[in-house]
Amino acid sequence: MPFKGQLRWRKIADRDLPEIDRIAKIIHPDLPEHIKTFAEKINLSPSTCLVVCDGTHIRGYAIAYPWRMNDMPPLDTLFGSIPADASILYIHDVTLLPSVRGQGLVAELLKILSEAGRELALTRFTLAAVYGSEEAWSRYGFRRAPMDERLMAQAAGYGAAVYMTRDFEPA
Ligand SMILES: CC(C)(COP(=O)(O)OP(=O)(O)OC[C@H]1O[C@@H](n2cnc3c(N)ncnc32)[C@H](O)[C@@H]1OP(=O)(O)O)[C@@H](O)C(=O)NCCC(=O)NCCS
Repeated sequence: MPFKGQLRWRKIADRDLPEIDRIAKIIHPDLPEHIKTFAEKINLSPSTCLVVCDGTHIRGYAIAYPWRMNDMPPLDTLFGSIPADASILYIHDVTLLPSVRGQGLVAELLKILSEAGRELALTRFTLAAVYGSEEAWSRYGFRRAPMDERLMAQAAGYGAAVYMTRDFEPA
C-alpha cells in the first residue's frame, strides 16, 4: 500500500481536468464520456465532485451531483442545469487507479459526500453499478432499488447497470 496516509480527497480545480480525462480513458474505455460533460457537472455541483490526490498526483476521482430519485441520467451528456426537483445525490462515477484501491478511500468519500449532500438538502445516495460492481457497492451499504421499465431502458445506456441506493452517513 504505497500511498497510505498521504492520500486525500479534495475538491476539483480546473487544472485537474486533463488528468481526470486521462484516468477515465484508461479505466472506462467502453463508457467514453467527453471531458466537457465532466467539466459541466463539476461546475454545476462543485462540492460533490472530488479528486483523490497523493500531494503531487491525482489517483482517482468522484463525480456526484443532485438528481431525481428513480432516474438514471444519460452518460456523456450536457445537462444545462440541475433538475429543479432534484432530491438525491447521484454518484455518477467513482474511479480509483488500481494502485490506490483497497485502502478505504470509498468509505472516506461516502462520509464527505454525505455531509455535502445534507448541506444541499438532499436525502440519500443513488448510483448505477456497472462492470459487476454491485457486490462492491453492497459492501458500502448500497442496496438494489426496484427498476421499472423506464429505469431498465436508462440502464441499457450504461451497457448494463443495477440501480442502487442508501442513506447518507449519520451526521
Ligand atoms: C469500485 C472502486 C471505486 C472501489 O474502490 P476500492 O478501493 O477497490 O474499494 P474496496 O477496497 O472496498 O474494494 C471493494 C471490493 O470490491 C471489489 N470490486 C471492485 N470493483 C469491482 C467490480 N467492478 N466487480 C467486482 N468486484 C469489484 C474489489 O476487488 C474489492 O474486493 P476485495 O476486497 O475482495 O479485493 C474501485 O475498484 C474502482 O475504481 N474500480 C474501477 C471503476 C469502477 O468500477 N467504478 C465503479 C463504477 S459504478
